Formats: sequence, structure tokens, C-alpha cells
Amino acid sequence: MKEERAAYFTDEYEKIHGRYGCKAWMCGRVTMEEHFTFGHQLDLNHDNIPTIPRTDYVANQDVKSYVIAVDPTGKLGWTENSIAPWNEDRLEDHIIEVLTEQVSDAYLAHLKKIGISYIFGGKERLNFTVVVEKLKKLFSIDELMLEGGGFINGSLLNEGLIDELSLILVPIADGASNSVTLFETSSYLTKQHPVNFFLKEVEKLDDGGLWLKYVAKRD
Ligand SMILES: NC(=O)c1ccc[n+]([C@@H]2O[C@H](COP(=O)([O-])OP(=O)(O)OC[C@H]3O[C@@H](n4cnc5c(N)ncnc54)[C@H](OP(=O)(O)O)[C@@H]3O)[C@@H](O)[C@H]2O)c1
Repeated sequence: MKEERAAYFTDEYEKIHGRYGCKAWMCGRVTMEEHFTFGHQLDLNHDNIPTIPRTDYVANQDVKSYVIAVDPTGKLGWTENSIAPWNEDRLEDHIIEVLTEQVSDAYLAHLKKIGISYIFGGKERLNFTVVVEKLKKLFSIDELMLEGGGFINGSLLNEGLIDELSLILVPIADGASNSVTLFETSSYLTKQHPVNFFLKEVEKLDDGGLWLKYVAKRD
């Protein structure tokens, strides 16, 4: 019963993801590792890796949908340019890595070898305004679905890049003490501006769930 209920809401989450019909969705490195690459580590200790210039690399521009992985130092253990081996719900999605210039040449060489696109969002720190501009220019991505976790959500909120908030309220309490909040303030952020959200729509899901939609309003 417990598992069935959780599975129902996971399924609803995926349906709502589909209803947005966005060409791209984005997650932070921790979420990607937890839900998609499952901590898979690459063996990149090869000699004679040439220096690779820190310029954006577009492997594929004509795919139906993209998954954008925010992975500043290149830790995610992708093995091909597709999320398909890791997740049965999002088979079509091709990967774009968002990196800083701190990433190793070996990781860049690996991404090129398996055909994963990458863009640089900063030298040491990421600037998401630059990131979204590049996503639009290089991949025609006009709209992005940001799907956590809390640190990546907080980073985009801080740069005023969130227009709408979609919240699924699930009546299950696990009491976990290590959960991140919806918007975390990380040490990389210098200033945090409160953002006001206004309720746009509420939709009842089965079994006591709610889907809440808010829009952001900035002065
Ligand atoms: N309920 C939900 O719908 C939902 C959705 C998604 C995730 N989650 C949960 O949230 C948890 C993970 O959330 P999280 O907040 O810890 O991690 P996260 O946001 O998924 O990833 C954080 C990592 O992304 C990179 N990053 C994010 N913002 C950055 C910035 N401004 N500059 C540079 N790097 C940045 C850093 O990677 P490096 O550490 O490599 O530098 C950072 O440690 C998981 O337990 C997951 O299950 C829940």
C-alpha cells in the first residue's frame, strides 16, 4: 500500500513533467547522481590527454528534448549521450553538461568521445544568466524546466530566472532530517533576494494530492 501510493505520485510527477512539454529540463549534480547515474564513477586516468580549449561543444542540435546536468567540475559518470540507460521515463532526452573551466581535460575528452554537448557557465563559479543565454543561442531552448534539488533551485532563484513554480503536494510524511528545502542558499551565492510568488492554479490529484502553480512577480 505504502509503495503503491508513492508510485502513484511518482507517476503523476512524470505526467505533469510531460504536460509542460518543455524541450529541456535541468537538475543539479547531486540529484543527477542520486536518480540517474547512481554514483557511477568513470576511469579517466589516462596519460597524454591533450589540453582541450574551454569553449562550448555542441554535439547534437536537432534532438527532441534535452536534459541539462549542472556538474561544475565534471563528476557525473555518463556512458553515452542519452539518459535512456538510467531512466525509463525520459528515453528521448540527450545530455548537455554545464561546466566551469575547472573541469579536467580528461573529462572533456570523455564527453566529446561519447558525444555529449557541454557549455561553460563560468571560470570557477557558474553564472546561470550566461548559461540560459547559451542554451537559447546554441540549442534554441527558450523554456527550461528546473527540477531540483534545492541548491540548483536556489541558484536560479537568486538570479531572477524562475518565472513559474510548480509544486506537487503529496500527503506522505517521512520525517527525514537530511532533506534539502525547495530553495537552498549555497555558499556560492553572494546575495539572496526574496521572490514573491502568486497562486495561478490549483488542481486536485487523486488520493489527496495537490498540484499548485504559482507565478513569480518582481518589482
Ligand atoms: N522532491 C523533488 O521533487 C526533488 C527534486 C530534485 C531533487 N530532490 C532531492 O534533492 C536532493 C539533492 O538536492 P541538493 O540541493 O543537495 O543538490 P542539487 O541541487 O541536485 O545539486 C547540487 C550540486 O549542483 C552543483 N551546483 C548547483 N548550483 C550550483 C552553483 N550555483 N554553482 C556551482 N555548482 C552548483 C554543485 O555540484 P558539485 O558539488 O559537483 O560542485 C552542487 O553541489 C536529493 O536528495 C534529491 O533526491 C528532490
